Formats: sequence, C-alpha cells, structure tokens
Amino acid sequence: MSAKAEAALAKGAEEAAQEFSAEEEIDYVSYGGEQHLPLVMKLVDEELSEPYSIFTYRYFVYIWPNLTFLAFHMGKCVGTVVCKMGEHRSTFRGYIAMLVVIKPYRGKGIATELVTRAIRVMMESGCDEVTLEAEVTNNGALALYGRLGFIRSKRLYRYYLNGVDAFRLKLLFPRPDPSIDTFPSTEERAFNEVPETSQRQSLTYYG
Ligand SMILES: CC(C)(COP(=O)(O)OP(=O)(O)OC[C@H]1O[C@@H](n2cnc3c(N)ncnc32)[C@H](O)[C@@H]1OP(=O)(O)O)[C@@H](O)C(=O)NCCC(=O)NCCS
Repeated sequence: MSAKAEAALAKGAEEAAQEFSAEEEIDYVSYGGEQHLPLVMKLVDEELSEPYSIFTYRYFVYIWPNLTFLAFHMGKCVGTVVCKMGEHRSTFRGYIAMLVVIKPYRGKGIATELVTRAIRVMMESGCDEVTLEAEVTNNGALALYGRLGFIRSKRLYRYYLNGVDAFRLKLLFPRPDPSIDTFPSTEERAFNEVPETSQRQSLTYYG
C-alpha cells in the first residue's frame, strides 16, 4: 500500500475514533472463528515489538477461544487481547499474551475493558493468579496493569528479541474463605459506591 493510501486510511480511523465517545458504542466479542484470526494478527503484528508466527496465534485462539477478545467500532477491529490459562507448578494460572488497541482509539478504556473481560473468565474458571510480561519501557501498559492491581514480581534481563528487559506482572486472586460471606450483593455495592479508580483496582475482589 502506498504511503498516501496508508495516510488516508489512518485519517479515516482518526475521524471514526473522534466520533466515538460512549463506551457502549464499542462491541466486545470473544474469538468467534477463523474470520477473526487475520484481524487479531494484523493488530498485534503492527503494534507489538515481538514477532509471532501463525502457529503461536493458532495455539492461543484454538485452545482458549474464550480468552481472546476483540473490540469493534463501526465494524472495524480496534483492539484485541489474547490469553491462555493452565496448570503452572502448584497453581492454576491465567496468562495475558498480547494486548493491543490501535492508536486513534487509545485512552478510552478499551484495553481496560478487554483485559477485564479476560480476567473475569480466568477468575470464573478457577485461576489463582494472572501473569504477563511487559517491556520495562512500556509506561502505558505498566500504568494500565498497575491500575488493575497487578504488581511487579520480577525483572527479566533482555527478555525480548529487541534486547529490552521485561517486568513480570502478577495479579493474585484472594482465595475465598467459605466461612466468610465477603462477596457483596449488587445492592451493597451500589450503597457503598466507590470512586472509579478503586473500582478498577478492586477487580481482584469483585471480578
Ligand atoms: C497499552 C495499550 C494497550 C493501552 O490501551 P488503551 O485502550 O489506551 O488503555 P486504556 O484506555 O484502557 O487505559 C487505562 C489506563 O491505563 C493507563 N495508560 C494507558 N495508556 C497510557 C499511556 N500511554 N501513558 C500513561 N498511562 C497510560 C492510564 O492510567 C489509563 O487510564 P486513564 O486514561 O484514565 O488515565 C495501548 O497503548 C497499546 O496498544 N499499546 C501498544 C501495544 C502494547 O504496548 N501492548 C501492551 C503490551 S504488555
């Protein structure tokens, strides 16, 4: 594609993004089959530094289709998250492999919603924790995951092919104590209205 055509396309996305304001205008869907694969691959290939082969994508989306989500605006795929889960040592662990939102749509809470949906499925499936790696220089991703309650558990030296170190981030789910009824009802939660920031951070408790 010529640079001019690319610029025109980018302008189209920019304008579409400006029209969008309300969160409900974005459609979130879980991986629905082969028609979604090129959409996921395009976004990740364009935005993440690490190259992935088609086998890697297929590994994730075929085994855990319920842990890949796509965000659409006016029929265009504008974001995606790709995850898996399974036994890891003595835990059952969720893992966020890829997360991307295209530039014109950033800063509107789309990544937060994608990740929150994946984490909810992990929680409901009995995961004890969720992990991922992020480049130590990726301030946006580190801030996003920090807001969701992730902590930095390790620094991995030259983890990426580009030579950059990674932080391993971890979100621990509290083990439920069956003797204590700590899960508040919808009414209780509404009554105890908490600020937006705390709501996001309390994901670990309320899913
Ligand atoms: C990181 C990324 C997925 C964020 O997507 P997004 O939809 O803009 O994220 P959200 O709107 O949900 O952001 C939620 C919070 O994360 C933080 N955040 C996100 N991007 C940020 C940035 N560039 N700088 C600082 N904080 C940022 C903010 O606290 C933000 O909340 P606020 O807007 O109320 O301040 C997106 O920038 C992206 O695709 N980047 C390239 C790919 C990438 O780095 N993926 C992550 C790999 S680990």
